[in-house]
Amino acid sequence: MLSWDEETASRASAQPRPHLQAVPSVPQFSTHADAPLNPGILARSEPPVDTAQRVQAADKRIINGQTDVNQLVPFKYKWAWDKYLAGCANHWMPQEINMQRDIELWKNPNGLTEDERRLVKRNLGFFVTADSLAANNIVLGTYRHITAPECRQYLLRQAFEEAIHTHAYQYIVESLGLEESEIFNAYNEVKSIRDKDQFLIPFIDTLTDPAFTTGTTENDQKLLKSLIVFACLMEGLFFYVGFTQILALGRQNKMMGAAEQYQYILRDESMHCNFGIDLINTIKLENPHLWTAAFKEEIKALFLEAVELEYRYAEDTMPRGVLGLNAPMFKGYLRFIANRRAQQIGLEALFPQEENPFPWMSEMIDLKKERNFFETRVIEYQTGGALNWE
Ligand SMILES: [Fe+2]
Ligand SMILES: [Fe+2]
Repeated sequence: MLSWDEETASRASAQPRPHLQAVPSVPQFSTHADAPLNPGILARSEPPVDTAQRVQAADKRIINGQTDVNQLVPFKYKWAWDKYLAGCANHWMPQEINMQRDIELWKNPNGLTEDERRLVKRNLGFFVTADSLAANNIVLGTYRHITAPECRQYLLRQAFEEAIHTHAYQYIVESLGLEESEIFNAYNEVKSIRDKDQFLIPFIDTLTDPAFTTGTTENDQKLLKSLIVFACLMEGLFFYVGFTQILALGRQNKMMGAAEQYQYILRDESMHCNFGIDLINTIKLENPHLWTAAFKEEIKALFLEAVELEYRYAEDTMPRGVLGLNAPMFKGYLRFIANRRAQQIGLEALFPQEENPFPWMSEMIDLKKERNFFETRVIEYQTGGALNWE
């Protein structure tokens, strides 16, 4: 093995490689203190800086921007930077949560009913691949089309959080000793899960297609549509049957470790959803010509389809009532959430007068508390802080 000294010595004695030699036309300066300075050369090599070329915050745009994406500041989209900071303050890792009681409960033949076990497995069957879809959509798709560096900074944080979520679901599967191939293949093999993913995949394909670029009304609308599908329908709707189910188990003192993991994930996902909605609304403000009547109709149709798909998933995971929950209750809940998402991006409620059948879920995430939770109370939830379970 080479020691540090040997490596340094061998580098020093190495023959110069032609492609690494200085280009002769570049002036060579000595950095030695005694070296004579030649003001004429310095003046030629450092022409006056044209500060008019510097990035101006007012010139930044979320899409189709012309400013340098490598310069985070001057800030224009402070809300994105603030969410990046809040995401970092909420950092957590799956191994920090003790799974011992879950393992004992799962291994105890009388610990859970068959319906509860089915619910847990179908639930994980969706989530073990869902966050990989979300991560790939960001890294290979969304990121390169967004030209505001503050938003890119948040997307980098979000991508890592998606990796942590996939890790958390894998950690639960491994802790419980579930059949990995069954759980990880559910998105191919279980119709209610496959249908949700197949609804999403065309929107991922649009953004990840190497030939896709923004800059035309048609393509900018495609990008906006994909952002809406991911923030409002994937993270904002398709996660909610699953989150509610595991949190309902936790409320009955069952699978408390898994429920704690899901609560951390829910906190992250609420922020992803809020970031996505802010992103969508800012794109709308900067590009009002994209928000046409026909486009809005298309978005409404996607909302209705997503509600239907998530309802079928609820029926499949809960063929009978379980944990005080049943599929019809979720019909109301999904309509209630869909209304909220629609209104958040400036559409009318799709199902007027729908009430929330799970007010305890609101305690954790929804409505006004959601904003307060993340934007004003985030300091209470920094790394290592316990979650509050009421
Ligand atoms: Fe996630
Ligand atoms: Fe997410």
